[in-house]
Amino acid sequence: MTTVVVVGSGIAGLTAALHAVENGCRVTVVTKGALPDTNTRWAQGGIAAVTHSADTVASHAADTLTAGGGLNDTAAVDVLVGEGPARIAELVDRGVVFDRDADGDFSRGLEAAHAVARVLHAGGDATGAAIQAALGDAVRAAGIRVREHALLRDVVLVDGRAGGIELADGETILADAVILATGGAGQLYAHTTNPLGATGDGIAAAIRAGAAVADLEFVQFHPTALAVGAPFLVSEAVRGEGATLVDDAGRRFAFEAHPDGELAPRDVVARSNARAMAAQDGRPVRLDATVLGAERLAQRFPTIDAAVRARGLDWAREPIPVTPAAHYLMGGVVTDLDGRTTVPGLYAVGETARTGVHGANRLASNSLLEAAVFGARAGEAVARDRGWPVAPVRRAAPAPAAAVDAPPFARAALQRLMWADAGLVREAAGLDRAAATLAAWSARGGAREVEDDNLLLVARHVVDAARRRTASVGAHFRSDGQHGTSGPHDTDIALAAAPAASTPAHPEALAC
Ligand code: SIN
Repeated sequence: MTTVVVVGSGIAGLTAALHAVENGCRVTVVTKGALPDTNTRWAQGGIAAVTHSADTVASHAADTLTAGGGLNDTAAVDVLVGEGPARIAELVDRGVVFDRDADGDFSRGLEAAHAVARVLHAGGDATGAAIQAALGDAVRAAGIRVREHALLRDVVLVDGRAGGIELADGETILADAVILATGGAGQLYAHTTNPLGATGDGIAAAIRAGAAVADLEFVQFHPTALAVGAPFLVSEAVRGEGATLVDDAGRRFAFEAHPDGELAPRDVVARSNARAMAAQDGRPVRLDATVLGAERLAQRFPTIDAAVRARGLDWAREPIPVTPAAHYLMGGVVTDLDGRTTVPGLYAVGETARTGVHGANRLASNSLLEAAVFGARAGEAVARDRGWPVAPVRRAAPAPAAAVDAPPFARAALQRLMWADAGLVREAAGLDRAAATLAAWSARGGAREVEDDNLLLVARHVVDAARRRTASVGAHFRSDGQHGTSGPHDTDIALAAAPAASTPAHPEALAC
């Protein structure tokens, strides 16, 4: 019987675990928090899939490719949209109760850059929490062994292939195969919608194991995180329902950046918000959802409604302050269509993986779908694959950067550096500065927390990739490069007028 260790307990990891067990493997799920402490739990908007006769997989594929700036892997996109409906049915079978309309059909939300409403949701805006709970129950019911509060340090290599993992406390868990599903690395940035655990652990461990990574320059910034209190996502679905973005003067500015206004691709709206903030000395822009009214806001967006009201705001009566924040990493550990990385016996799924479905920018609500589709495929592949060939391990190293006199390493310093120099808008001087500082911190060594080490390593690869891509595409925007791939009216933002990263109007809200 193949033994498998799955690292991470969000939708990608648990789906992979369930499929591996259902295909005869013995699986242990390892997670650094409690089982439900995942990025998945925070997902609001929903899961995009074709579930209605008014929609087609060709349309879903076309939207995914357009958002991705043409850099998507088309075979991966075909798998994503083609297998999406089956994975939705599976989630329903596993107990996820998606919201339905009066006719009993799935209630479908509209989000940016989707040609039609196709985003399924549960509990209004608690889609991730509903999926997390159902999959957690399924894993327990299947008797899968779960190790909580166990932090991954490294993948154990045996004869050039993955043979288990080493935990931060030194314990080793041996297995025939390892599936990395640790999510993304939002904690690279001073402002993020991601929880504290999003420290790129799986990506960093894969890099150290010699696995290929790609597309790490493509970091998606969400346009609307609440700019009061702790960072909190305000779903794109709110704009899909009719909310608008306004500046201090009450001017609706999003159409100046793109003909689709507030429902333009996410990177365009994020930069448009940043530009409007820069023009008003860094003060957040405002999301005006008053048109929806108190009852609709509370019924359709109960989670956001509670978070907004907990901050003393009444969004049924007045626009609320919002700011862009790091949200999702399109790049990651390179995989084939079954989650196999370039290291035999090592698999990656979900945000940890670079399947190629997202290209340069992810279409809204395609992330849960990617995790479900490719998690299932990896779980099945790991049960099929036998006798992984021994391959020479090639360790990737970021390009050398000139050493600088860097301040002492601190996670907050790294996050500020990444926000300022490798954030929404990039240019050579800032990226060179970031590379040099990161290199100095790396060279200095010293006793760092495992998660800080991981962030530092992933940051170096993000910056390295961003330096190499000198033209703008998708979520990677170079103010000193060629433009034109993100939208017809998405004009340059001078770095001098960069978003309010260093001068937040609500420092208490944005401080990390
Ligand atoms: C949102 O609800 O706006 C986020 C959904 C996503 O990241 O796809």
